[in-house]
Amino acid sequence: MALKNLLALVVLLGVVGVSFGGDLYEGYYRYNNCPQMEDIVRNVTYHYIYKDPTLAAALLRMHFHDCFVRGCDGSVLIKSPNNDAERDAIPNLSLRGYEVVDTVKSVLESECPGVVSCADILALVARDAVLAIKGPWWPVPLGRRDGRVSNISEANLPSPFANVTTLKKNFADKGLNTKDLVVLSGAHTIGVSSCGLISSRIYNFTGKGDSDPAMNPNYVAELKKRCQPTDVTTSVDMDPTSVDKFDSHYFNAVAEKKGLFISDSTLLDDWETNLYIQKQVLLNGFYFNKDFSDSMVKLGFVGVLTGDQGEIRNQCDRVN
Ligand code: HEM
Repeated sequence: MALKNLLALVVLLGVVGVSFGGDLYEGYYRYNNCPQMEDIVRNVTYHYIYKDPTLAAALLRMHFHDCFVRGCDGSVLIKSPNNDAERDAIPNLSLRGYEVVDTVKSVLESECPGVVSCADILALVARDAVLAIKGPWWPVPLGRRDGRVSNISEANLPSPFANVTTLKKNFADKGLNTKDLVVLSGAHTIGVSSCGLISSRIYNFTGKGDSDPAMNPNYVAELKKRCQPTDVTTSVDMDPTSVDKFDSHYFNAVAEKKGLFISDSTLLDDWETNLYIQKQVLLNGFYFNKDFSDSMVKLGFVGVLTGDQGEIRNQCDRVN
């Protein structure tokens, strides 16, 4: 190709928003047999989120859980008749929103059969769901392929009882740095947990009927009102002040020792994550949306399958 033509192509791709970086790129399906893909994902996702805005948190979490096990390959979506797939693992039992992905997939299969991966659908649904509740936007380069393996024993997700050293290692193992850890933990600005996961923290931290000293005593008292000692099911807001709103208040909560999990509170124990939290408090979350967007793009690249790896599943809950 003559240099002039090559330059023209580069300029054209820049204008239509294609980015270079890895094998994924924005607008992938516009050039690969399903130009209406992104519109369909957005319409279906918005439809669900208007009916139930709490699904936004659930879908964001599902994307994270997908990416942390075998990469963002849709493996979390696979069902097993023997209950031994990733989605059967304890941290995934509280995932919700599979129906959103399945509905998007069935519309896409009727419009462009065999073209769009479930891994891409989940990555895009998570972004659109957050956008639908007026959260930040991030670009979603596409072109992922679907994995064929989903195994309960591999679903080793970061634990809510982990300290910052372990969490840093969990993230580093996926190519994500300390900043990504603290920024992405900011996702806990939306959504809920259940009393069961915090009862030892507020009722019996060291086996002597005490609570975690890293927790604000007023917050412990509040949580005790909501969660009785044996209650494992009642939900608790992750961000005590604005659970439905994607804002930076999570960092204020952590700074005030109101992080719900040990994995939230422990972000005060490392100089870099601590500094980030103090900066967000001081600047009222000025950079948070931009940082979140950058880290979500990185998360979306973790371990992706491309080219002739994996497959394009016909149905998201089973391999072909
Ligand atoms: C840093 C390590 C992390 C740990 C240990 C952790 C742990 C948890 C736990 C235990 C829950 C409550 C689940 C339940 O009640 O069963 C939760 C909820 C949630 N997590 Fe995380 N998480 C982490 C990072 C992330 C990241 C990186 C994201 C997204 C980018 C995320 C998004 C969410 C959301 C949105 C919810 C609320 C879900 C809902 O309302 O359905 N978390 N997380």
